[in-house]
Amino acid sequence: MDESLAMARIYVDAGVSCVVATPHVVPGTKWKLKPKDICDQVDVLNKCLKEENIPLTVAPGMEVALDTGILTLIDQNCLLPLGHSKYVLIEVPFQRLPLGWNQILFTLQLRGFQILLAHPERCDHLMKKRAFFDDMIYSGVYLQVEWGSFLGHHGLEVKSQAEYLAQKGYIHCLATDSHNSRSRHAGYVEDAARVVELQVGRENLELLGRKNPARVLKDVPLEAMVDYESPAGAKRKKRWQF
Ligand SMILES: [Fe+2]
Repeated sequence: MDESLAMARIYVDAGVSCVVATPHVVPGTKWKLKPKDICDQVDVLNKCLKEENIPLTVAPGMEVALDTGILTLIDQNCLLPLGHSKYVLIEVPFQRLPLGWNQILFTLQLRGFQILLAHPERCDHLMKKRAFFDDMIYSGVYLQVEWGSFLGHHGLEVKSQAEYLAQKGYIHCLATDSHNSRSRHAGYVEDAARVVELQVGRENLELLGRKNPARVLKDVPLEAMVDYESPAGAKRKKRWQF
């Protein structure tokens, strides 16, 4: 609880009023959590936040590894979307995408879920196969990039992949991927926001950092990035259209 409260204070300082807790779930491994347990823990945390007068609300969710086992989770009623919406946060692996990755995503959509992919800019496989991003966007999959990727927290290759996605207009949300209050937290969002604004302009910064994340919790479709003239001098890119 002390750690959670420390992280909550960092979120509030960064201007965040609501955050979704997304503990890792990896089908078929010890990383399994029951939706009810997550919701119960989130309730306890929200109560504590109130008592401590910390103006932050936490919504329940999970970050599920992209794996065929997700389909079993659905059958077992063990897939917990973000904040009781239809959005599920799917973790893209850091190395290769699993065989049949697009079938897994398609099946999730057929079951009525909206897909938000977590940190696709950090995936080696996608660095080599950028055309897969076109397929994802064409299929109505939403992409969530980490704020820290724009600051180079994961190296120059990941940074340039984040910039590529920004130039293509393929990003829908920005997130912190917070893990603790010491090294991986929301404290660097303000710095990252300045960098992102230079790349994609104020309107897109608002869209990716505030409006679209709020739309996830309202359970309505996300908006694509608008055309922009980069204050940093990058070429204006056309908004994607299919
Ligand atoms: Fe992750």
